[in-house]
Amino acid sequence: MNAAGAPAGDGSYEVDVPESSADAARVVDPSGTDEERRIEAALRPRRLAEFPGQRRVRDQLGLVLEAARRRGSPPDHVLLSGPPGLGKTTLAMIIAGELEQPIRITSGPAIQHAGDLAAVLSSLVEGEVLFLDEIHRMSRPAEEMLYLAMEDFRVDVIVGKGPGATAIPLELPPFTVVGATTRAGLLPAPLRDRFGFTGHLDYYATEDLVAILHRNAALLEIEADEPGITQIASRSRGTPRIANRLLRRVRDWAQVHGRHVVDEAAAHSALALFDVDELGLDRLDRAVLEALCTRFRGGPVGLSTLAVAVGEEPDTVETVAEPYLVREGFMIRTPRGRAASPAAWQHLGLRAPDDAGAAVAGGATGRFGRDDGPDTLPLGE
Ligand SMILES: Nc1ncnc2c1ncn2[C@@H]1O[C@H](COP(=O)(O)OP(=O)(O)O)[C@@H](O)[C@H]1O
Ligand SMILES: [Mg+2]
Repeated sequence: MNAAGAPAGDGSYEVDVPESSADAARVVDPSGTDEERRIEAALRPRRLAEFPGQRRVRDQLGLVLEAARRRGSPPDHVLLSGPPGLGKTTLAMIIAGELEQPIRITSGPAIQHAGDLAAVLSSLVEGEVLFLDEIHRMSRPAEEMLYLAMEDFRVDVIVGKGPGATAIPLELPPFTVVGATTRAGLLPAPLRDRFGFTGHLDYYATEDLVAILHRNAALLEIEADEPGITQIASRSRGTPRIANRLLRRVRDWAQVHGRHVVDEAAAHSALALFDVDELGLDRLDRAVLEALCTRFRGGPVGLSTLAVAVGEEPDTVETVAEPYLVREGFMIRTPRGRAASPAAWQHLGLRAPDDAGAAVAGGATGRFGRDDGPDTLPLGE
C-alpha cells in the first residue's frame, strides 16, 4: 500500500487507496497489487486517442472535454462506474491530461472525516481535477460536504465547538471532480445528481484486449505473436488489468522454459498452470458455479449463503466473480437469489437434475434477491 503522498511514479500523488479484500493471489483478481500499480502506471495510456475500447464512453467524454476546452472553463463533474480493472483510474488521469490540469488523487476510504475533505478542497487550484476513487465509500458527512462543494464551489468550515460553533463559508475556485466507483448504486442520489456526466465502463471485447496487449507487450519488451496474444486476450474476462497480468505470467512461463516468444503453446501451458480456463474462469468462479449447482441444486440462493459456501466475502463474490458470470450467462439473478443457468451445468460437465432451476423459470428479472440489498451492479444496464 502506498504511504500517504507517495509518488505513484507518473507524476501524480496517491493518497492511501486500500486494497480490496479479494485474495491477491488470484491470477484473475481484477484489483491490483502494489507492484502492479507501478507497472500499470508505466502502461497507462495518457491520451483519449490512445485508449482502446469503451468507444461510447470515450466519444462522450471527448465531447465533454472538448466543449469545456473551447469554453475555457472546467467541464462538468464526471462519474466513472464499472467493475475493477477496466480503466477508471486511467481515464481519470487522461481527463486531467486532456485538460492539461493537475490531478489530485484520493479515495473514499481515505476520507473518513469531513475535515479531511475540507483540507483537500480548500487547497485545490483553479481548474484542478480531484479524483475520488471508490467514492461510494466516503463517510456521510464528507459526502454532504462534497455535493455542496461540487454545486456551489463552497465549503463551510466549522470553527469552534458546541453552541458557539460557527460555519465560515469558504469560496473555492472552480474545479472538476472525477469520481470512480464499482458500485454506482450505492451513491446517494443527491451526490449522483451532481455529476453532469456518467460513463459506464463495460467489459472489453477480445479485439480491444488484443490491441492493448500488443501495445503493452511492446512497452514491456515482451516478444509475443498474434495467436499467443489472442489466447491471453480471450481468457482475460474482458478486463485489461487481468490481460496485463496474464501476459506477464505467460512471459514468465516462456522464459523459464527457454522460449523467448509468448505464443499459443506458452499461453496454454501457463494459463493451465494458473487455473485459468478457456473462458477465463478461475478457481473462485468455478467454485461459485460448483456450489450453486451441487450444493444448492442450481439455486436460487442468497448472496451471503453462496459466499459462505465458497469461503469468500460476499463483497468479493458480488464484485469480482458475479458480474462476469452473469455477463457470460452462467449465473442468473432472480428475485430470490442467484441461480445457475444451463450453461453453468454444461461448463462444469454436470447434468442438471430435471427439477433444477424450476423455481427460477420465468422469474429471472435481473434483480437481486431481497437479502442482497439494492441492485448495485454496474453491468451497463
Ligand atoms: N483502455 C485501456 N487501454 C490500455 N490499458 C488499459 C485500458 N484500460 C485499462 N488499462 C490498463 O489496465 C490497468 C488497470 O486500469 P485502471 O485504470 O487502474 O482500472 P480501474 O481503475 O478501473 O480499476 C492499467 O494498467 C491500465 O493501464
Ligand atoms: Mg482504479
